Amino acid sequence: MEKTLSIVKPDGVQKHLIGEVIKRFEENGLKVVGLKMIYMDKKEAEGFYAVHRGKPFFESLTTFMSSGPAVVMVLEGKEAISKTRELMGATDPKQAKEGTLRRQYATNIERNIVHGSDAHETAAFEIKYFFNSLEMFEY
Ligand code: CDP
Ligand code: MG
Repeated sequence: MEKTLSIVKPDGVQKHLIGEVIKRFEENGLKVVGLKMIYMDKKEAEGFYAVHRGKPFFESLTTFMSSGPAVVMVLEGKEAISKTRELMGATDPKQAKEGTLRRQYATNIERNIVHGSDAHETAAFEIKYFFNSLEMFEY
């Protein structure tokens, strides 16, 4: 079984979409094995998105991600990484397929309500960034 990290971003929390996002994942065979609400400061957001340091959107993205509470979760399932990304849809909601979370709920390419890890190595880094082993459960 594969694990991935997902975040209901601050805009998703403001739009009261915590339940909707979790429901979509659970309905599609993903199991929530870790879950918490956090409020990242700017430094934590910069560390989380370190791979994007230097890109034109980095400053705005990390300000946005530290602008309010977010919900982080560890999802487990068969091909959890690609399944989560499929349910999220493309980064830019205008490019995202009909029925995906981002197509339905995102405001724009930055405020796109949800995050999902994009590969095994990034998933491992991102899960460790927010969760220790005592905060994840088997059931
Ligand atoms: O989140 P995803 O993996 O789909 O996209 P990314 O390329 O890893 O970018 C991370 C996040 O940066 C996106 O989800 C957007 O919130 C933001 N972003 C942006 O504001 N403008 C862009 N041109 C690309 C990404
Ligand atoms: Mg990404």
